[in-house]
Amino acid sequence: MQPVDLIRRLAPSADPVDLAEDYAYPEQGRWLRANMVSSLDGAATRDDRSGGLGGAADRLVFSTLRGLADAIVVGAGTVRAEEYGPVRPGEGWDRLRAGRPAVPPLAIVSRGLALDFDAPVFTETGARTIVLTTESAAPARLRAARERADVIVAGRDRLDFGAAADALAERGHTRLLCEGGPGVLAQVAAAGLLDELCLTLSPLLVAGAGPRVLHGPAMAVAAELRLAHVLESESFLLLRYARGSR
Ligand SMILES: NC(=O)c1ccc[n+]([C@@H]2O[C@H](COP(=O)([O-])OP(=O)(O)OC[C@H]3O[C@@H](n4cnc5c(N)ncnc54)[C@H](OP(=O)(O)O)[C@@H]3O)[C@@H](O)[C@H]2O)c1
Repeated sequence: MQPVDLIRRLAPSADPVDLAEDYAYPEQGRWLRANMVSSLDGAATRDDRSGGLGGAADRLVFSTLRGLADAIVVGAGTVRAEEYGPVRPGEGWDRLRAGRPAVPPLAIVSRGLALDFDAPVFTETGARTIVLTTESAAPARLRAARERADVIVAGRDRLDFGAAADALAERGHTRLLCEGGPGVLAQVAAAGLLDELCLTLSPLLVAGAGPRVLHGPAMAVAAELRLAHVLESESFLLLRYARGSR
C-alpha cells in the first residue's frame, strides 16, 4: 500500500502512514484484533448503528483491516443492525491478500440463528460464511445454517469463544479480526482472547444510552493493553492498543 495523505501519524513517530505496515499482523501464531469506533463521550452507537460515528479515515482502516484478516468474527446483533452484506475486495487488497482467497469469510456468532440464510451475506459471498454457534441451537435452524454456511459448534448454551477461535485456527484462520459488536467483544475480552484493540475515537458527542465498545459484566481482571500507535485524520484519532510490546 502507498503512503496515505488523508491520515498522519502522531506517535510513536511522524513517519508517513502505510496502513498495511502499520496494521501488519505478527508473522506467527494466532492474533485476535478488534476494530471499533467510539464517540468522544464513549458511545459505540449513534441511532443504533456505528456508521454515524465514522469518517473517511475510519472507513479506510476498516477496509485495510478486513484485507489483512483471515476471518472476520462478528456478532449476529451487528449483522442484523448494520445489515451486513458479503465482504467485497477493497483497494490494494491484491497485495494484502497475496496467496490467500480474495476475501476473508465472515464468522457470525449466533445462538438463536435468527438469521436470513437466503440473504446475500450467505449466498453471494466470495468466501463461504462461517456460523459460530452452540449445542443448544434449534436443530431446524442448525440444518438451515449448514445449507448455507460452514458451522462451528462450540459450547453448550453460550459460545465457547476460546474453542471457536481454536477451531478457526485449525481451518488456517489465525489472523482474526473482530468487528464487534459490544456484546461479543466483551466476551472475547473476558475470555482473555483480545490481543489488540483498534479504536477510532470520533470527534462527536452524542450522549444517549448507546453501549460502550465492550458491553457485558465487569471483568474480574481488567485487561491492560499498551499504546502501539496514534494516527490522526480530520479530528478523528485512530488508536492501536496491543498486548505485550507490539
Ligand atoms: N462502535 C462500533 O465499532 C460497533 C461495532 C459493531 C457493532 N456496533 C453496534 O453494536 C450494536 C450491536 O451490538 P450487540 O452487542 O447488540 O450485538 P453483537 O455483539 O453484534 O451480537 C450479539 C449477538 O451475538 C450472539 N451471541 C453473543 N454472545 C453469544 C454467545 N456467548 N453464544 C452464542 N451467541 C452469542 C447472539 O446472537 P443471537 O441473538 O442470534 O443468538 C447475540 O444476540 C449495533 O447497534 C451495532 O451498530 C458498534
